[in-house]
Amino acid sequence: MTKAHPKKFHIKSFGCQMNVYDGERMSELLVDQGMSPAAPDEDADMVVLNTCHIREKAVDKVYSDIGRLRRKDGTSPMIAVAGCVAQAEGKEISRRAPSVDIVVGPQAYHRLPELMETAKAGKKALDTDMPAASKFDILPSRGKQARPNAFLTVQEGCDKFCTYCVVPYTRGAEISRPWADLVDEARALVDGGACEITLLGQNVNAWSGEDDKGRMQGLDGLIRALDKIPDVKRIRYMTSHPNDMTEGLIAAHGEVDKLMPFLHLPVQSGSDRILKAMNRSHSAQSYLDILEKMRAVRPDVALSGDFIVGFPGESDQDFEETLQIVREANYSQAFSFKYSPRPGTPAAVMEEQIAPEVMNERLQRLQALLNEQQYAFNRQTVGRTTDILLERKGKLEGQLIGKTPWLQSVHIISPDLNIGDLVEVEITQAGPNSLTGQIKERMAA
Ligand code: 5AD
Ligand code: SF4
Repeated sequence: MTKAHPKKFHIKSFGCQMNVYDGERMSELLVDQGMSPAAPDEDADMVVLNTCHIREKAVDKVYSDIGRLRRKDGTSPMIAVAGCVAQAEGKEISRRAPSVDIVVGPQAYHRLPELMETAKAGKKALDTDMPAASKFDILPSRGKQARPNAFLTVQEGCDKFCTYCVVPYTRGAEISRPWADLVDEARALVDGGACEITLLGQNVNAWSGEDDKGRMQGLDGLIRALDKIPDVKRIRYMTSHPNDMTEGLIAAHGEVDKLMPFLHLPVQSGSDRILKAMNRSHSAQSYLDILEKMRAVRPDVALSGDFIVGFPGESDQDFEETLQIVREANYSQAFSFKYSPRPGTPAAVMEEQIAPEVMNERLQRLQALLNEQQYAFNRQTVGRTTDILLERKGKLEGQLIGKTPWLQSVHIISPDLNIGDLVEVEITQAGPNSLTGQIKERMAA
């Protein structure tokens, strides 16, 4: 059956911030095609599910969402499955969910307009190529920004092959985008109204490239270049691998004022035995050594991390070592997950898979400790005066929510301020997940 050309679209991104970035680029592409985003209460005639394959639960969500898109009259909008589930499952998706019209991988979404033509003709459209030509050269350039805090993907893919992880298979080999493209995109983002830029990559600190003078640079060089753009007020980056944490990047934290004192550095486990089985190629001690160097140049740096509990073969002793590294490292926030076997990864076929009740118990204990540290970190900031970037409206009348340099959310009441303002506040109260502040002064924009 042929379908009409869709006019209103809705994009739903799951998973990591790189998916949020891809979702924004797809949205700009569809707008460039004359379509417009559907309002929240409006029925979209095209829905893009920008999916995540990292854990089984994330995949299940996609299939239940596809089911829910069926309208009361039995019809559905044009449905595109994008992202890592599309890459990993390809044709299998249309078999499991016949209402899906388009399946498009993370390296091929610039071809959405052509795929929509195929779908309009009533045929299934599939593109999970990892083409040599970069999608970034084809996508429309960045325009007006919806948020003051913009994402900028600088690096994609991963060559690390941690034994539990699908990313090297779904996102492909590590590639760094060229210097000039990134500086141009950063400029376009601030011209479009953003003032904070978060550099993104699965292994963002592995970024490398030649600068405009032909010298090889690492992520720190790129950060220093963005620092020179006057309208860039804040710079962040994530996610980093311990092995790519160079001396230069650590030094930048002590020297570049716009680089925020925040480091997302996943350790995954505190046990060297498990780290080896995970193919992480760092040890608990080498991780702690990086933190020591970082804190020597930037004592107030806030630390974030990722943890997996219940990796195959994880003993009580291994798990105790994870709790121990958390105590030593001291996190301001962190993400922790139960190990989820992913098809095609080496860990999925390892012996000694851990029982779900053991995983649950370990996750609860780990999260209790991480929550305690997060709350303690938040309480420490009470009484401090700091700048916050206002990012969104709160639920209450006149309420706005902004972020501290350490990435904590702060609620303020101020009817005369706007999203995008950078203001000085005194932190007056701390909760486990957010802070309350009072305006001191509006900072020069
Ligand atoms: N099971 C559970 N967690 C995983 N992660 C990656 N793969 C898996 C998996 N198979 C977690 C890691 C990674 C984060 C993005 O997701 O902690 O850092
Ligand atoms: Fe996955 Fe490891 Fe690469 Fe991170 S470094 S994306 S966990 S393989």
